Parts: sequence; structure tokens; C-alpha cells
Amino acid sequence: MSIDKTEKRIIIASMLLMGLFVFSILYAKSKYKSDLPGCLPYDKAYTEPKINKLDDHTYQVFAVAQMWLFQPSEIYIPVGSEVDFFLTSKDVVHGFNIAKKNINMTAIYGSINKTTVKFDKPGVYDIVCHEYCGTGHQNMHSKVIVNYPEAR
Ligand code: CUA
Repeated sequence: MSIDKTEKRIIIASMLLMGLFVFSILYAKSKYKSDLPGCLPYDKAYTEPKINKLDDHTYQVFAVAQMWLFQPSEIYIPVGSEVDFFLTSKDVVHGFNIAKKNINMTAIYGSINKTTVKFDKPGVYDIVCHEYCGTGHQNMHSKVIVNYPEAR
């Protein structure tokens, strides 16, 4: 059995390319400390929108997406806060994109997605739905307001 030379080269080139892809993912994960969103067992408790303050700089946000809004719609936190977002949807699939934070999650009915975000700089971080979900899609947004103690 013999392999054509060209075929052999292509196989080697594809393997190198795959290796490069895997390396890039691992490199990005360590260099940018990007945390891949996790998936938790479904629990009805997460379908109630709320903000839990665990301590001065640690918060939990139960974010609920539905046609066509996010709740809570405004999240006030102090600078330097770490926020665990638990995300679910009450109906169809929605997107959950936090501008300037490289966070891109999907809200799915019957499922809880979780990610942790640190907000080191003051500012308003818009959250938008980036998954087409019907006629009100473009109106779906909320925001994280990081400017404590000025606000409230
Ligand atoms: Cu929700 Cu688009």
C-alpha cells in the first residue's frame, strides 16, 4: 500500500493546521484568561431575575431573557467587581453579548449558562441580544453600570 506524495503532504499540512488551531485555543485561554461558559443543571430558581450581592466586590446576576427584554435591565456594581452571570431564557433562543468584555453567550430555555466577568474600569457596559429572536430583537438590551460610589 502506498500513499501518493501529494496526498501525504496534504495530510501532514492538515494535521499541522489542526495542531495550530488547538494551540491557538489553549494559548488564548491562558493569555486572556478567557473562561469558556459553563453549563449548570437546570433549576427553576434561575428563572427569577435577581442580583445577589455576596460581598462588596462579588455579585451574582440571574439574567433572564425573554421576548424582547432582559431582566434585570440595569445592573449597578462598584468598580473592581466580579460578577457571576447565570443566564437562561423564558422562551426562544436569545443572545447575550456584553460589549467591551468579549462575552458571548446564548440564553436557552431549560438551560443555565454561567460565566464570570470582572469589571475593572468604570463605565456603562451594554448587553445586547445578538441572536435573531423575532420582531422585537433589535430592542433587546440591558446594561451593567460600573461607577460606584457615584451612582446610587
Ligand atoms: Cu433576543 Cu434577539
